[in-house]
Amino acid sequence: MLSLKISDLTKVYPNGTVALDQVSFSAQPGEGIVLLGANGSGKSTLLRCILGLETATSGDISIGNWQLSKLNAQQLRQMRSQVGMVFQKFHLVGSLSAFHNVLQGALGRSTSPRYWFPATAPETERKRAMECLDRVNLSHIAQQRADTLSGGQQQRVAIARTLMQHPKLILVDEPVASLDPQAGREVMDLLWSIIREQGLTVICTLHQLELAKEYGNRIIGLQNGKIQMDTTVKSLEDQDLTLLYKGDRNLP
Ligand SMILES: Nc1ncnc2c1ncn2[C@@H]1O[C@H](COP(=O)(O)OP(=O)(O)OP(=O)(O)O)[C@@H](O)[C@H]1O
Ligand SMILES: [Mg+2]
Repeated sequence: MLSLKISDLTKVYPNGTVALDQVSFSAQPGEGIVLLGANGSGKSTLLRCILGLETATSGDISIGNWQLSKLNAQQLRQMRSQVGMVFQKFHLVGSLSAFHNVLQGALGRSTSPRYWFPATAPETERKRAMECLDRVNLSHIAQQRADTLSGGQQQRVAIARTLMQHPKLILVDEPVASLDPQAGREVMDLLWSIIREQGLTVICTLHQLELAKEYGNRIIGLQNGKIQMDTTVKSLEDQDLTLLYKGDRNLP
């Protein structure tokens, strides 16, 4: 499992928006962090910087032994193959089956064209894709087109695809924002039970405070790109959370 260290991370977008302002924190291997903050507070930007999808303006990020600012393209690919990402919008290929989508999670390990198609993928990978689908209780719809699945099922397929990567760190961006409360809870239960059983390090953004308190061990609150709170759930006061949502710069 991977540790994570963020040091004085600042991200200024080309239009001058300061999305992250001197953010520093560390996550121990196996730690479950929930990232909270109003719209526009910088949560997604932080996750995108950790994955190397955005370049930091200053500061640095270390994931295990990788120091992001020093990686070449090949090393970056290697790092990313160990970091899973789950998004609000599931990013499945709608015209492909659930099984085929999960199988593509193996592409981070090998770019061989064999992995593109179920018929040519190695038997071990096909078996693993079925196991991952089974882990999210969806082996019975393996051959169904992804765009015909419910939102909750699509998110579970996306989780299975991430598991296919053998991730050591998982970044999760609003996993239940597109789901109804019941489906959202099922997805959170499933995601967290997998995270715990595999001892994964996780950073998960949420807008539902109840879920944050229920599932997180530690809560980091961002406000206007700055860390405003970093506390264990046990010692969290509700008023701390209210303060976090005051002064949202997107509000009039
Ligand atoms: N590509 C971009 N170019 C310019 N500004 C951006 C870009 N992406 C994000 N921003 C700005 O950076 C700030 C932080 O955005 P970010 O998406 O990280 O916030 P967030 O906390 O994830 O918000 P939400 O809760 O709405 O998802 C916002 O002011 C946003 O407008
Ligand atoms: Mg966001």
